[in-house]
Amino acid sequence: MNTDPYNSERGELEYQVSDFGAWNGAERKFDLVIFNRSLHHIPQPAKVLEKVQSLLRPKGRIICVEYAYDQFDRRSAIWFYHIRRVLEQAGWFKSYKKLSGNLGVSVARIKEEWRASGRKDHLNRFKEMYGPLRSLFEEKHLSWEPYVFWDIIMDMRIPSTDTEMAFARCLMAMEKAVIERRAIDPVLFCFCGENAQHF
Ligand SMILES: C[S@@+](CC[C@H](N)C(=O)[O-])C[C@H]1O[C@@H](n2cnc3c(N)ncnc32)[C@H](O)[C@@H]1O
Repeated sequence: MNTDPYNSERGELEYQVSDFGAWNGAERKFDLVIFNRSLHHIPQPAKVLEKVQSLLRPKGRIICVEYAYDQFDRRSAIWFYHIRRVLEQAGWFKSYKKLSGNLGVSVARIKEEWRASGRKDHLNRFKEMYGPLRSLFEEKHLSWEPYVFWDIIMDMRIPSTDTEMAFARCLMAMEKAVIERRAIDPVLFCFCGENAQHF
């Protein structure tokens, strides 16, 4: 708060840390509710979003930047495979078990590992979030953004920091390009909606 450059342009800030499903601390309505990669973790997203609706003033907005693990498809796994394999071959990737050179076997493994971690953590699937978002709020914006590259760069170990930064930026730009060309199904969506309830 002390180093915020917009200090003089905003009102007071107050922080509360809580499980959103259990939180009951609002005595007023809000202009905006933001979920930044958190809604996919919270059980019963339809109920959660009904709660958001009750917290928003009329025409108040919701922004969700959310991970949809079930959208990770075979094409995403193939893209992931090629990048990770060359990094492994260069010795620039921290991996416990290296991918095999057999494309089919490795792609099936990557896809299953990715989806299994979503199932294990009981993450919400895209439709479980987007269905209630669309029915409870008037959609103002929906876009898909790069995110798979993030998983790669976390385990990337390039000796030169400059090269590592440049490669990370390149991967993000490349994922954006393959999303735009619809060559993979993206996994991170950004939704903005308006409270359509006027009472
Ligand atoms: C992937 S992290 C994102 C963290 C942060 N929003 C960011 O963008 O860096 C997921 C976050 O969801 C939060 N979360 C999970 N379940 C939650 C719940 N029931 N209520 C509130 N937050 C929750 C976790 O505490 C965690 O910080």
